[in-house]
Amino acid sequence: VPIEPDLSSCGESTVDAGTTCMNVPCCPPKLKDSKIIDFEPPLGCKIHYRPAAHLVDRDYLYKFESAMERMKALPVDDPRNFMQQANIHCAYCNGAYSQVGFPDQKLEVHYSWLFFPFHRMYLYFFERILGKLIGDPDFTMPFWNWDSPCGMTMPQIYLDPYSPLYDENRNLEHQPDVLVNLNDGKSFVKPKKKDDFYELAKREQINSNLYVMYQQMVRSAKTASCFHGAAYLGGCVSETDIGCTPEPRGGTIENGAHIAVHKFVGAKNPPYNEDMGNFYSAGRDPLFYAHHGNVDRMWNIWKTLPGKKRHDFNENVWLNSSFLFYDENTNMVRVKVRDCLDSKTLGYDYQSVDIPWLRSKP
Ligand code: C2O
Repeated sequence: VPIEPDLSSCGESTVDAGTTCMNVPCCPPKLKDSKIIDFEPPLGCKIHYRPAAHLVDRDYLYKFESAMERMKALPVDDPRNFMQQANIHCAYCNGAYSQVGFPDQKLEVHYSWLFFPFHRMYLYFFERILGKLIGDPDFTMPFWNWDSPCGMTMPQIYLDPYSPLYDENRNLEHQPDVLVNLNDGKSFVKPKKKDDFYELAKREQINSNLYVMYQQMVRSAKTASCFHGAAYLGGCVSETDIGCTPEPRGGTIENGAHIAVHKFVGAKNPPYNEDMGNFYSAGRDPLFYAHHGNVDRMWNIWKTLPGKKRHDFNENVWLNSSFLFYDENTNMVRVKVRDCLDSKTLGYDYQSVDIPWLRSKP
């Protein structure tokens, strides 16, 4: 059966770091009335483009920052408040909900075919809320273009300590301009020798990142199951039994570049590596939403790549799985996977930028 979160069952989230473990409260504020609205894609056919974070201009930045500032300033129990938004990730990723019809089964949106749809809709409502707060329903948020050489460091606009886009819980050694290693999330190691060695090593890191992208988007992602991850059906026996396959399994990008970037940004502090280094806290870093913008963009790009089997699943059990979000008007909305397959029906797409890894065939 399709997966659906059971709102009434929401309880504490469990954050397990192997050697140690803690419980955190991440449930959304209670519904005003018990109405849940079924999602309708926005009317109108205009597409708005999410810009690459390293290319935005000052006017855009001003708008984005004011929106974020307002989101952070909302009352703490407003479901649109920034911390409440961050907690959505915690609730869906650290077992706060059980599944409708299966009270003993926790819901988890990672490591399966729910990964892309869940994060797409999470970002969608986050963006709608930002737009509402500045009175601009056409507002789009930026994406972190880490798959391209000019985007392989943390985007500048997130690094100003006085900006609402800043987060102190990051690996400061990776700021301001350290190249990410998309292979494992470690930083690129500077050689201690002369400048030309440095340039050479840098070029090697960039090439290696492009190669990683080619692998995860093209070579190893020829089917929906490879790209999206394993099926995840309602009522699986245990958390380790996601998809009722022996192993929960994320797709190529989810397991690869996506995790690497989380690790790269999160602080070095064990055991939880907040914020980006742990699911429960990742949404507290504004950079999370730009990171996932690019992950979401990969879904769009993947569907344009050639290959007979390179298209989404058509199983109803996937298409009818659903998530719940508060929208920009504080209404609780139920979204199905089938509602979000095409970002254009949601009214957005991504600024078109060069995709150098398409040419990085080994
Ligand atoms: Cu829900 Cu990048 O993780």
